[in-house]
Amino acid sequence: MSANPFHLAWFGAGGFGVKSWNKTWSGRGGVDWASPQLWIDVAQALERARFDYIIIEDSSYVPDAYGSNSKAYLSSATATPKMDPTVLAPIMAHLTSRIGIVPTLSVTEYHPYMLARKINTLDHMSQGRTGWNVVTSSSHRAAQNYGKDLLEEHDLRYDIADEFFDVSCKLWESWDADAVTLDAENGVWADYEKVHTIDFEGKFFKIRGPLNAPQSPQGRPVFTQAGGSPRGKRFAARTANSVISGVEGGVEAMKRFRDDIREQAVAYGRDPNDVKVLFMASPVVGETDEEARAKRERQIAFAEAHPELGLLHLSRHSGIDFAQFPLDEPIPATAKTNGHQQMLAQAIGKTPREFLRKSLSTMEFVGSPDTIAATMDEVMQEVGGDGFLIANFDLNRRYVSEIADGLVPALQRRGLTRTEYTHSRFRDNLLEF
Ligand SMILES: Cc1cc2nc3c(=O)[nH]c(=O)nc-3n(C[C@H](O)[C@H](O)[C@H](O)COP(=O)(O)O)c2cc1C
Repeated sequence: MSANPFHLAWFGAGGFGVKSWNKTWSGRGGVDWASPQLWIDVAQALERARFDYIIIEDSSYVPDAYGSNSKAYLSSATATPKMDPTVLAPIMAHLTSRIGIVPTLSVTEYHPYMLARKINTLDHMSQGRTGWNVVTSSSHRAAQNYGKDLLEEHDLRYDIADEFFDVSCKLWESWDADAVTLDAENGVWADYEKVHTIDFEGKFFKIRGPLNAPQSPQGRPVFTQAGGSPRGKRFAARTANSVISGVEGGVEAMKRFRDDIREQAVAYGRDPNDVKVLFMASPVVGETDEEARAKRERQIAFAEAHPELGLLHLSRHSGIDFAQFPLDEPIPATAKTNGHQQMLAQAIGKTPREFLRKSLSTMEFVGSPDTIAATMDEVMQEVGGDGFLIANFDLNRRYVSEIADGLVPALQRRGLTRTEYTHSRFRDNLLEF
């Protein structure tokens, strides 16, 4: 491998819902989406390409921010429907052997005992390949499905997340690693003195414990986190094993973001190499550079012809109805959100039309596999690490193959990404380099 190998992970944007459904390469996506088969195919392709992990995105509400109703979301199957990622995850885990499987679960929607139990079960069933994408939710609509009038205020959600994280870890450690003695002769399956109550009483949660199952192979899951606001980054630096970032502004901004996370991790007494920062990328791959550029031009033309599609996400993540803003006037600095602060901050000052031109990537990667591999190499050398989170909002099998069978072999030929997994557990592979 090169002196600076990097990691690859996949962001399952849109979660367990409709992916590409009415385009040339959609197949039967509009009908077959509720089967786990696409996700199985994706996970197996990514495992073939030696990806570290795949995140199943999630949220649990039907959005109605854009245009102040749900019409545009339901018409285009954007961000809805979404089914439960924890039901999908074990199927993906069962039909793969090395890749990390990371469902998204929100600390404002789950109770810690229920979450800790689910994740512990998944880690056992996947033999140590489970992660948890820790999110705090960002919409009042989600909160209203769980008995609240409004979602908690932004920074308070991260305070809840801190306590949630701590109490979950206590639950995962409530059985000592050697509690299961399997002493057949004396009839002692588990030693009761090695299973402890946690008697936790915090500001938000009160839990006696212990968890009613033994420690899982990894002890605790691999934590991924995406907070981009100052408070979000603080939480990520304290807890995450992998920070997923959609920061804009090219190589300089990426480097600043990573350095910041690493410095804050050190301040929490952590080894900064235990926090892998992965940057969103949505490579546009062609047979040749020219073909890839033509493809990107078509993407931009499509986005410009359907501006509402691009603004649906910005609206639902911020709770602001972007249908009310003229397309060619800058988004005012007075716009405020209790949702995704970093995303809105990056939109302010741009016109909606300018915002739409931006791809999903932290920066654009357009070209043949070799061209993109060379660019990714340069970018990672300047940023310092740790890799990319590949994302595509209009997912089809053809795109997965372009990445897994086209781009990744080009990266591997340069020694930039792994050709084999060294370990059987997710965290060990992630922290290997
Ligand atoms: C790459 C990426 C993936 C995310 N995935 C989810 C998700 O699946 N579900 C969710 O509710 N929020 C998701 N988020 C939102 C974050 O968890 C977080 O709420 C958001 O980045 C706003 O954080 P901030 O206010 O600290 O910037 C994601 C964000 C990013 C950048």
